[in-house]
Amino acid sequence: METIVPFIDLRAQYAFLREEVNEAIRGVVESAHFVGGHALEQFENEYAGFVGADYCVGVGNGTDAITLALKAAGIGSGDEVLVPANSFFATAEAVSNANASPVFVDVDPATFHMSLRRAEAAITPRTRAIIPVHLYGRAMDLKGFEALAARRNLTIIEDCAQAHGAEIHGKVIGSSGRLTCYSFYPGKNLGAYGDGGAVTTSDVEIAARLRMLRDHGSPQKYEHQVIGVNSRLDGLQAAVLSVKLRYLPQWNEARRGHAKRLAAALDGSGLLPPEIPGGKEHVFHLFVVRTSRREELKHSLAAKGIQTGIHYPTPLHLTSAYQALGAPGPGSCPVAEQLSSEILSLPMYPEMSAEQIDYLAEAAREFSSDNCLEPELVHLSMAKG
Ligand SMILES: Cc1ncc(COP(=O)(O)O)c(C=O)c1O
Repeated sequence: METIVPFIDLRAQYAFLREEVNEAIRGVVESAHFVGGHALEQFENEYAGFVGADYCVGVGNGTDAITLALKAAGIGSGDEVLVPANSFFATAEAVSNANASPVFVDVDPATFHMSLRRAEAAITPRTRAIIPVHLYGRAMDLKGFEALAARRNLTIIEDCAQAHGAEIHGKVIGSSGRLTCYSFYPGKNLGAYGDGGAVTTSDVEIAARLRMLRDHGSPQKYEHQVIGVNSRLDGLQAAVLSVKLRYLPQWNEARRGHAKRLAAALDGSGLLPPEIPGGKEHVFHLFVVRTSRREELKHSLAAKGIQTGIHYPTPLHLTSAYQALGAPGPGSCPVAEQLSSEILSLPMYPEMSAEQIDYLAEAAREFSSDNCLEPELVHLSMAKG
């Protein structure tokens, strides 16, 4: 079956950007500033301005962004860091890479974000930080977490790998000025042409520490003050990102429009579409539905040329890596565990056409009516945990 609705279409995006991107790449190649240099500085300034933070420090990828943010905040060996049980593996892996221990917290069944109540219950005397993840592109409301962090003297480090440009209470994520981490993996809402990442902050000392850590612990060439890493955002990636940043607001708007159209078309189908919050709160990096017949739905859509994904098939605490390290077993994060067997990510990208969205919605509705899916059953199972 030919692909009619791919999961994402980066070639279509390149076709739209070709002239500008080629020109930006040529500029870097001709300047020969491949590591550091003008393109990096320009992107860091533009991105800091975009999120409303004072500083942006480009790094090699989103995983390193979190690891270096933790190190810059002085978190390491013996410390515990709260992470949601439903996220990409890197959220927890970055904590382990900083020599700290991730503690897995169950998620809220409506937003799929870390549950505040469960986070509070997971705090021990060793807890030093919380990593809220703006999962799927939906901005998390951090008011409750901020109050909790203030009460228990914890650092908040935000994982914004999936939510570039999302806003909450009228403010872009990152504008809080604390440590906020981004991935520019090619498929992200703001994606490079290879790996890339960044940390934004408004703390001048933390920014200086991040710059030192990303570059062999060296603020000046050969002045190695601490053990760092080699994790720099290269000039070519920065140049591509500067071009794409100009289009990010319109791309996010397009995603929101597609999400509304798709959610409306799925209404009453028995598939539970994501909540569509108002304003710019969601940038729909992923459009995740729930169904009790996930595997059948996936295969039925594939047979009609529609690609899908699962984000994520295994909750973090149940991955082999963390089970081997003694993480709690099945039953410890019941909502995340239930979600992992019910969630399916449908195609979502700015270049999707109205015909593709309607074709996708029709295929999902057909599946639901063939399988007599009852919306109420899905809603009821949601109440668990
Ligand atoms: C939620 C989340 N955190 C962290 C990362 C890690 O980013 P990277 O792949 O750039 O290392 C990703 C990227 O996939 C992610 O989705």
